[in-house]
Amino acid sequence: YLRDVPEGPPDPILGINESYKSCADPRKVNVCVGAYRDARGRPWVLPAVRDAERRLLDDPATNKEYAPIAGDPTFVDLALKFAYGADADVSVIAGMQALSGTGACRVGGHFLSRFVPRPAGRAKVPIYVPDPTWGNHVAIFEECGMDVRRYRYYDAGTNRLNYAGIVEDLTNAPDGSVILLHACAHNPTGCDPTFEQWDAISELIASKGHVAFFDSAYQGFASGDAEADAFALRHFVSRGHNVVLAQSFAKNFGLYGERTGTISVVCSNPEERSAVLSQLKLIARPMYSSPPVHGSNIVRTVLTDKGLTGEYYNNCREMAARIRAMRERLVDVLLEVGSSHDWSHVTEQIGMFAYTGMSSEMCDVLTSEYSIFLTRDGRISLAGLNDDNIEYVARAIHAVTDG
Ligand code: LMR
Repeated sequence: YLRDVPEGPPDPILGINESYKSCADPRKVNVCVGAYRDARGRPWVLPAVRDAERRLLDDPATNKEYAPIAGDPTFVDLALKFAYGADADVSVIAGMQALSGTGACRVGGHFLSRFVPRPAGRAKVPIYVPDPTWGNHVAIFEECGMDVRRYRYYDAGTNRLNYAGIVEDLTNAPDGSVILLHACAHNPTGCDPTFEQWDAISELIASKGHVAFFDSAYQGFASGDAEADAFALRHFVSRGHNVVLAQSFAKNFGLYGERTGTISVVCSNPEERSAVLSQLKLIARPMYSSPPVHGSNIVRTVLTDKGLTGEYYNNCREMAARIRAMRERLVDVLLEVGSSHDWSHVTEQIGMFAYTGMSSEMCDVLTSEYSIFLTRDGRISLAGLNDDNIEYVARAIHAVTDG
């Protein structure tokens, strides 16, 4: 039968990363995958993370036992407080360790697909994801058996948020739909609603009986302030939403390969919490049994020690500041090399990416002629830029956009 297995397409993000690795051009630049690089283009292990690892290695209590199905309960509590706030009532939050953001979305999607009542006449639970959204979202929720639909989010004409489109599409979605929201630093557009818009979206979602599902991959990374970046999530909770949260520690702790995160559901009382948690565990057990422990040990160690926590916040601010500097520098250099385009949308965006507005064809030329590797939606990972390559990248963008 194996001869009938068709070749699948490469992943639109990680596939391009593989092509970068095999490219022999010494000029090559990787601005494809959203992974932090330091000012010299190298992956960065946060010093707070290194210090926590040293402590773990020296601690005789560290072992390689299985974690419980729901993960390390101390880590989960700390992670929930990081997201929902230090004074959040975790006794009503069903939280479980998850395999970073992807694993959290996958378990959360299964849970919602099983328990959210389907609108009349629908075979599947609808989930509305922003258009555009992180490429993996659609595949994840389809694998969960959900009916994946899109709501307008971005206006390619103005290169800005399409707020009127969001309101119209969420209003027209059947009552009780699941609505996927990026908690901050929307990927790929870098466009977030304002506080007032978040408030109105929260009201709208409540009035429709929709379920708000937050994907939080950039808390701390967006503004450099983990508290400020949690605004939308905490605001929804304060307005009484039973939110679902997929939380990742890949970017903000630099724990990409450790697969560390949580999935949580805000319930109305401890009884609901207990039932929901039992169901989350039933989903996880046949899928991967129990989560990996190294990353959660690191986060627990950092967040239980005042000194390490302070060091961590400094590290996180440093990453956010370098990315912001690269965003501003990219636009400055584009203008310096003679670009006549309006790039103000790039300076206004937030988070790890510049959503440039370049077409797929332009992206293809950047890759084939300049060995600059980026996703075909015109998204540039600002973390891949540094003083050595930024002028080269800006000149190439100028050549393909003004040429
Ligand atoms: C990205 O958007 O580049 C990151 O979230 C990495 C990934 O897994 O796609």
